[in-house]
Amino acid sequence: MTEYTVEFVGTGETITVSDKQTILKACIEEGIAQEYSCRVGMCLACSAEILEGDVTQPAARGLTDEEAERFALTCMARPQSDLKLDRGVYPPSIEGDAAAAGTAADDD
Ligand code: FES
Repeated sequence: MTEYTVEFVGTGETITVSDKQTILKACIEEGIAQEYSCRVGMCLACSAEILEGDVTQPAARGLTDEEAERFALTCMARPQSDLKLDRGVYPPSIEGDAAAAGTAADDD
């Protein structure tokens, strides 16, 4: 198991997350107010922009491949390096879904 430092820009919060743990789980354990809803990689509520570093998130089905390069769904994402994340920044696809239905993402 490898542990990485995850820094949330804007709030200055920094936590340690193992490569076996999701970022959301670590946030909950550390008392960080990371937003979430479905916890299965579909609703995008837990999104954060990746400013530095890499994650693995093969089950982040709510993101397009392109979005997965730039955004982490923290309920699914596990760190692969130290990270800098901007919480509460959402990928473009959430805009269309919210306007169309106001519900969870459902990419065609
Ligand atoms: S909580 Fe829904 S995608 Fe993470």
